[in-house]
Amino acid sequence: MAVSIKSKAEIELMREAGRILALTHAELAKQVKPGMSTLEVDRIGEEIIRSYGCIPSFLNYNGYPASICVSINEEVVHGIPNKDRIIQEDDIVSLDAGVIYKGYHSDAARTLIMPAVKDEVKKLVEVTKQSFFEGIKQAVPGNHIADIGRAVQNYAESFGYSVVRDLVGHGVGANLHEEPEVPNFAGLRRGMKLRPGMTIAVEPMINMGVYDVYWEDDDWTVVTADGLPSAHYENTILITEGEPEILSQAPGITL
Ligand code: MF3
Ligand code: CO
Repeated sequence: MAVSIKSKAEIELMREAGRILALTHAELAKQVKPGMSTLEVDRIGEEIIRSYGCIPSFLNYNGYPASICVSINEEVVHGIPNKDRIIQEDDIVSLDAGVIYKGYHSDAARTLIMPAVKDEVKKLVEVTKQSFFEGIKQAVPGNHIADIGRAVQNYAESFGYSVVRDLVGHGVGANLHEEPEVPNFAGLRRGMKLRPGMTIAVEPMINMGVYDVYWEDDDWTVVTADGLPSAHYENTILITEGEPEILSQAPGITL
């Protein structure tokens, strides 16, 4: 399927989906604390999403059994909530969530820093977030998809970190995953040209050590090959005539 250019009406629905998702992340950031199980995080997140009349995008997506992906420390993404997995004082906790509002998806991730996280790990989380903003500076019409990933990669690697290769960002809209793929690194291909009306999820996954990852036996949880921590930051954005618009945000919320 070709890339879809969203209409004004579709963009309006995606703004609302994104606003609700930003509020969901803000509420989770407030509530998630050491001592809580990752299953509780999922329950709280699902409750918030449904309280806005939305459907959690991830629940049952390709068989994924929860609404929120909760990935701790060396877990990169797609951690499955579990009642026996308790958040510790020195954990970083990546929360990835998606909502469907009137048929349109928004997808965003945040990495939360628990109270006793070491400074060097905090730095990884901060650089991962900033790498997203470096990437989207390139998300302007006329540029190509690879310009985003190149900026993410250059920024992250300048700190000695590495960019996960086996997972990428993606188009988003009436479906959670649409064309095009949005790598967080530059390869040989420039990728497609960016055009106003494209909506994409840009989601750097940055590792403190090597970029290699593997899948755990649950077939979902992705972990770093060297066991060092990984952080994730993601927003759904709209390509406009000028600067990109971050759709998964809400007034007064800086996360
Ligand atoms: N946010 C993830 C992504 O961008 C989606 C999680 S996949 C699911 O691809 F199966 F967990 F939903
Ligand atoms: Co995504």
